[in-house]
Amino acid sequence: MKKILPIALIFLASIGAEARKQPKKAQFTHETVEIPAVTPQVIAVETAHSALILQVDEKGVVRTVHYGNRIADPGQFLRFDPRYYRDLDPGSLNYPAAGGRFVGNPALSVLYADGTRNTELHYTSHETSGDRTVLHLKDYVTAMEVDLVYECCPEADVIVARSVIRNGGSKAVTLTDFASSSLTVSARKYFLTHFHGTWAEEMQIDREPLGHGTKVLESRRGIQTSQCGNPSFFLSLDTAEWSETSGEVIAGALAWSGNWRISFEEPENGQMRIIGGINPYASAWPLKPGETFTTPDMIWTWSGSGAGQASRNLHRWARKRQINAGGRITPTLLNNWEGTYFDFNAQLLKGIIDDAAAMGLEMFVLDDGWFGNEFPRNDDRAGLGDWELNEKKLPEGIDHLASYAHAKGLKFGIWIEPEMVNPASNLARQHPDWIVQSPGREREQIRNQWTLDLSNPAVQDFVFGVFDRTMSLSPRIDYIKWDCNRSITSFGSPYLGTEQDRFFIGYIQGLYSVLDRVRAKYPDTIIQCCSSGGARVDYGQLRYFNEVWTSDNTDADSRIGIQYATSLIYPACIMGDHVSVVPNHQTGSITPLKFRFDLACTGRLGMELQPKTLTPAERAFADRCIKSYKGYRDLVFNGDLYRLASPYEGDDYALMYVSEDKSRAVVFVFNLAFRNRDKFAAEYKLQGLDPARRYKVTELNVDKSCWWGDGKAFTGEFLASGGFNPSLRKPHASAVFLLTTL
Ligand code: DGJ
Repeated sequence: MKKILPIALIFLASIGAEARKQPKKAQFTHETVEIPAVTPQVIAVETAHSALILQVDEKGVVRTVHYGNRIADPGQFLRFDPRYYRDLDPGSLNYPAAGGRFVGNPALSVLYADGTRNTELHYTSHETSGDRTVLHLKDYVTAMEVDLVYECCPEADVIVARSVIRNGGSKAVTLTDFASSSLTVSARKYFLTHFHGTWAEEMQIDREPLGHGTKVLESRRGIQTSQCGNPSFFLSLDTAEWSETSGEVIAGALAWSGNWRISFEEPENGQMRIIGGINPYASAWPLKPGETFTTPDMIWTWSGSGAGQASRNLHRWARKRQINAGGRITPTLLNNWEGTYFDFNAQLLKGIIDDAAAMGLEMFVLDDGWFGNEFPRNDDRAGLGDWELNEKKLPEGIDHLASYAHAKGLKFGIWIEPEMVNPASNLARQHPDWIVQSPGREREQIRNQWTLDLSNPAVQDFVFGVFDRTMSLSPRIDYIKWDCNRSITSFGSPYLGTEQDRFFIGYIQGLYSVLDRVRAKYPDTIIQCCSSGGARVDYGQLRYFNEVWTSDNTDADSRIGIQYATSLIYPACIMGDHVSVVPNHQTGSITPLKFRFDLACTGRLGMELQPKTLTPAERAFADRCIKSYKGYRDLVFNGDLYRLASPYEGDDYALMYVSEDKSRAVVFVFNLAFRNRDKFAAEYKLQGLDPARRYKVTELNVDKSCWWGDGKAFTGEFLASGGFNPSLRKPHASAVFLLTTL
């Protein structure tokens, strides 16, 4: 026994020595690599009213020292010490990397070949050319390089930021955080507004004060970017309230259609660090020597006069620089989905086209159900993937319908869902390896369908082919509704082999490359982005699409909240808003036709019903609304939005659009509950008008006006001072007023 113990100890010690030997690879030299000194300086990225001011110290550390109003002499920030305690840098680093003194949530973290993870970025140079500033940063030990790119839209007070991350070393590395942009701001209070939701209840508002710790907004659903949250936010500074017209507000949005993450971290010194980018969840990204990774764009705006201005900034930028043909006036339309669902034939559709033309609508859109023969698409259980015309349902062909619509003066649109496949389809049988899946696991179905693996170039070709072949069904196709009715589960790609971490990002890169090809070939086709309603509303998609289907919920009561919240980030020109029947198919609610029309007219007006269900009086009313809408829709599409009352705060919703030259405006008011007389005085203070000009006010879509001032003229000053108080008392009373200068 006595002898055994020392032998066992020697054995155990040798195991310990073995274990200690294992991590030997890292070469710790104990020699410090010298960081070249740089001349301290201030770099100001400026728009008309805002400035992002970066300070570079003598060690080349770049800090955000200001994001707010434009400052006449930003050079004064050279003297500013952003550290609250000499030895600590609690986080004002402009693009914090995991390593060095930084202990917060990083924008960048890198796993190196030797197993180390420390990255410290230093300024090397920068250049500004026109509205574009690029800072070059480098880690002198690992040779990682980051270019921080800032592109300004001065007239909209928007700064678009992205990062280009390069492996300048000689060994492969893995990026485990790779944010687009980071910003640190300082205030006494932070009040966050963000969006949550679910199917048919997208874009619901959440508001909360932020304190110490980290608040994370994110999506891990792969492709339905925005069903449960939207990659965007508002941060009000120095207040615990939402205000449309006062206070400092920073708004941000990420232009990425996959998994995203925006975090808000208040470190110990009370600053707020915001980081936005692709969600690195299950997506560590490998970079070989010399390779780069370019992040998606993070869009920032600042307003010193409340949230309304921040929205207008984003809208103006988006119309001018981001949305495909932003601000283009797209046609009013009739979509047959809620009118027929899958149950139609050419005769029925031609009847709908006749009625749409008679009501003055400008396009007919044929929704789901026109394809599949062996697996006909007569419900949502079959046919997706087999994009050939259903010969039994529509033997006359698509061109027959499109020509009919054109002959009646209507444009023609058609629905596709090219990223998806039903198990009951030829495609699923022919290409099981094209389906998103994980080895040995059940391929989960959502809405009876699977997702095609767009990280695979063969699938990308197929999806482009679906669009292309659909367009070839008729030279008279003017509009495509591109749907996407599920998110990703049991994720994995047969194509990617052992590189599964590339899947989530690779899918979206594949989708964008398909959309690039689509837009190269079809630059003018109007394309609607639909995803079970509004599950893909983001500025990444909008580079390619003209509009979105905000929600499958067509109930006007529900849509008020959805459309109001969508308007915080996205302009009205992208919002497809349809009048449908009552009781509403999703909620069972009954609302007046006028209320439904007035609300649909706040975006791109459409109808989604069988017109034969309307009474002659309702038809006549529809004609009238469509006609009047055409007279002011340029304001909806391109005017500046002013929100006058929020449905989240009271029993009404009111908004107005004002032309850029302030010569015309349209005001919408919606009453959501019974409101008694005491609420009438000085109800709405109109905004955005020229105080000195006189505006004639005309109420539309009524025989008897609800305001004593109808038909009269008032100065902008008067209307902004509380003179506008239409008498709307009953629930679901609504009104539309056109203002024109004399
Ligand atoms: C979901 C969409 O949001 C609806 O508008 C409709 O197009 C259906 N898909 C068709 O399946």
